[in-house]
Amino acid sequence: MASTSVSIHGMWSSRLMFILAATGSAVGVGNIWMFPYMVGVNGGSAFVLAYLICIAVIGVPVMMAEVLVGREGRQSPINNLISLAERSRLSPHWRVLGWMGALTGILILSFYGVISGWAMSYVVSTLSGDMNGVDASQVTGMFESFTGNVTQVMVWQGAFMIATIFIVARGVGDGLEMAVKYLMPALFILIIALLAYAATTDHFAEGFRFLFQFNAAELTSESILAAMGMAFFTLSLGMGTMIAYGAYMPPDANILSTVGLIAALDTLVALMMGMVIFPLVFANGLEVSAGPALMFITLPLAFGHMDGGQLFGGIFFLLVTFAALTSSISMIEPAVAWVVERFEFTRAVAAIVVGGIAWLIGLGSAFSSNIWSDLKILGDRSFFDSVVFLTSNILLPLGGLIFAIFAGWLLNREIISGQLEMSGPSLKVWSFLIRYIAPMAIFVVFVMALR
Ligand code: PHE
Repeated sequence: MASTSVSIHGMWSSRLMFILAATGSAVGVGNIWMFPYMVGVNGGSAFVLAYLICIAVIGVPVMMAEVLVGREGRQSPINNLISLAERSRLSPHWRVLGWMGALTGILILSFYGVISGWAMSYVVSTLSGDMNGVDASQVTGMFESFTGNVTQVMVWQGAFMIATIFIVARGVGDGLEMAVKYLMPALFILIIALLAYAATTDHFAEGFRFLFQFNAAELTSESILAAMGMAFFTLSLGMGTMIAYGAYMPPDANILSTVGLIAALDTLVALMMGMVIFPLVFANGLEVSAGPALMFITLPLAFGHMDGGQLFGGIFFLLVTFAALTSSISMIEPAVAWVVERFEFTRAVAAIVVGGIAWLIGLGSAFSSNIWSDLKILGDRSFFDSVVFLTSNILLPLGGLIFAIFAGWLLNREIISGQLEMSGPSLKVWSFLIRYIAPMAIFVVFVMALR
């Protein structure tokens, strides 16, 4: 029997709401901005195939483990680790893994708020027609003058952070669930509208082939590694978000089928974004390998030259903002839930404290494109790039690796079989993936990323 208790923080009102919330967390700037540019710089379809395999054999089993730990404990990730460690006769020091995750979430939100603020400002600049008919040097100039303007960047980051804190402060039911209930359907409608538009362009087939026509020669070890890191980031794994969200999951929902659906939806959105973006890139003779600039320079250029581009561009950046918001709220949920449990703060105070810390740290990332542009932190990385590197390349894989060992090797088996409601071959497959494949694969990414 799965757990029947409830969380003091509130509960998702149905399995569907859990699916929307977890998909909302998973679908974000990672799918819309990072996935297409990574496909572009990593040779197209070969990267896509590696990514799909990583989602299936690492992402799904690890997400199942996070959700089961959440639902079994019904508390913040930190306190769940303490109580489940105790019930498995392990040291309470496992809480350190929870702290690391909560901190990672705050750090991810710090730079995510800045990027999302940029996207929000692009809603206004595309809809107002500022991008109409611009050429490559103008659009680059606009991007540089915007990111170079410290006041502008801070204002938009602030707007995004206030929205995030506001939603989290309202709580699980009135905040998180209300937000995903409206934003997720809107997001799907916007993506389908963009996809329908892309399908009418002459270059849709070319974009499709770029994503799906498999060419084994392009499958390099670098692209496999990049795909694995991307799979982690995009599914919001390795820092406790899915533990926190699992704590509010209804007791009767099946974990395997629910997690499978979330991973499938997340993957579908990433692929659909590829099918929206690459036809535009080809139709305008742009570079597929433009890298991080793809979303802020290449796309506005494409929108500036197509019929209805003003509106579609606006829709596109609105979509990025919605997707970012349903992810950002999930990044601080682990820390917020813990602060409420530990200090008995109200949720609003906890959200302001935790969100405020992320905001303050994020100022360093906001300054990286202007007043701190000469500051180098890790190697020759800016503050912004250092935080991205520290979180995605170090903290998430490390958190995921240690967590897979905890769940696969150390956690009481009765807890696992009670929550997963699996037996026989399917349980064996999950155990094999979480014990051997996931830790080994993550270890390889981790080591390679540090080289
Ligand atoms: N999955 C989100 C994205 O793809 C990012 C994220 C990472 C969200 C970690 C929560 C926790 O943009």
